[in-house]
Amino acid sequence: MISRRDCLKLGLAAGAAARAWPAAAAEPLITRAIPRTGERLPVVGLGSSATFSSTAAGEEKQRLREVFEAMLAQGGTVFDTAPGYGASEEVAGQIARDTGMAAKLFWATKLNVAQGGTADPARARAQLDASFQRVGKTPIDLIQVHNMGDVPRQFGLLKELREQKRIRYAGVTTTFPRQYDMLEQAMRAEPLDFIGVDYAIDNRVMEERILPLAADRGIAVLAYAPFGRTRLWDKVRGHEVPPWAAEIGIRSWAQFFLKFVVAHPAITCATPATSRAANAIDNLGAARGELPDRAMRERMAAHIEKL
Ligand SMILES: NC(=O)c1ccc[n+]([C@@H]2O[C@H](COP(=O)([O-])OP(=O)(O)OC[C@H]3O[C@@H](n4cnc5c(N)ncnc54)[C@H](OP(=O)(O)O)[C@@H]3O)[C@@H](O)[C@H]2O)c1
Repeated sequence: MISRRDCLKLGLAAGAAARAWPAAAAEPLITRAIPRTGERLPVVGLGSSATFSSTAAGEEKQRLREVFEAMLAQGGTVFDTAPGYGASEEVAGQIARDTGMAAKLFWATKLNVAQGGTADPARARAQLDASFQRVGKTPIDLIQVHNMGDVPRQFGLLKELREQKRIRYAGVTTTFPRQYDMLEQAMRAEPLDFIGVDYAIDNRVMEERILPLAADRGIAVLAYAPFGRTRLWDKVRGHEVPPWAAEIGIRSWAQFFLKFVVAHPAITCATPATSRAANAIDNLGAARGELPDRAMRERMAAHIEKL
């Protein structure tokens, strides 16, 4: 449980004032429909592994409240977390409950208790209960089976929760190439609302089979690791964003990478992780204005390849 000391660090003590983050620009956020329902989501959200997770476990937790406030002020709603991301789900849940943000967020978490390929149903239920307590709202918007762990059993539980209307959507995730075949099988065999997969300007294997299949089967897609975590940052260090990117309103490398990802029509939402409010605002900027067309996307990818 989060202690009183942690609450103070999170700025959640009584009277803690919300900081005024820049309001959303006049230009609306680009949204995409979840195929099964038509509900629209902003194409950029927030992830919570990587630096978000290390910040949740550290002394500067209050920065994460600021990240949420900044994202919501910009019109963002989608938040991706998991019980497996250290303190992320618990700390984010505490912030979301105590600030009343939970109702405004599209909360996506995950389930995985599979060990050696098999999940114990009792442990799975206990993990799900903990997730419900952390965010403090029912239904939870989306729960996905993390990393394809025992899909028959764990997705079976998610289907039950969906039928009981305790969750709104259910899916599966992976970012491991060795699991892509299994992912494809699940997309054909199971009634998935969502998948979550790795996709970035320098990591386009999803374009070959998975994204066309998602479009074909009406499955929404969360794009994970749109910066390759640190990979793309390492690649562009010391390089300026090319001036021609301004033609579609790109003002930073983050917007360059994210506009590339969300321009793919099968992508519903990219969820970059950040521990900084300024970066959340930068990232949401990619969900405004123009997106690159096919020719521009290829120009962008070629530019990164030759750096
Ligand atoms: N199997 C799965 O289910 C799975 C697997 C992988 C990822 N995911 C989800 O996808 C999310 C994103 O993937 P990821 O966390 O691996 O990596 P990522 O989003 O590709 O990259 C995160 C890194 O980018 C930096 N960053 C973010 N915005 C920035 C900006 N505007 N300018 C400069 N740096 C910026 C962050 O640092 P700062 O904190 O300094 O901004 C952090 O170091 C995860 O957090 C998770 O929610 C799911």
